[in-house]
Amino acid sequence: PFEIELARTKRVITVAADQTAVQALDAAGVAVSTSCEQGICGTCLTTVLGGTPDHRDAYLTDDELAAGHCFLPCVSRSRTARLVVDL
Ligand code: FES
Repeated sequence: PFEIELARTKRVITVAADQTAVQALDAAGVAVSTSCEQGICGTCLTTVLGGTPDHRDAYLTDDELAAGHCFLPCVSRSRTARLVVDL
């Protein structure tokens, strides 16, 4: 599990091991637009302001993966205990 902090409201949402970040956000009433939900289309692209994403998508470029300034919450997780996102 890891936490997602919503930078705009300071809310903190826990993502359980058996759910995706999109599912955890949705359960907390935070809607993220999705399409493929497989890390392919880029629809759910979300800006990361803090922490280090654990990228599991097939969409971002190598440079974007290395920079860690965005992630795809339909599949990707976090390497750090908390990820701060621009939501
Ligand atoms: Fe397609 Fe997340 S919904 S990459």
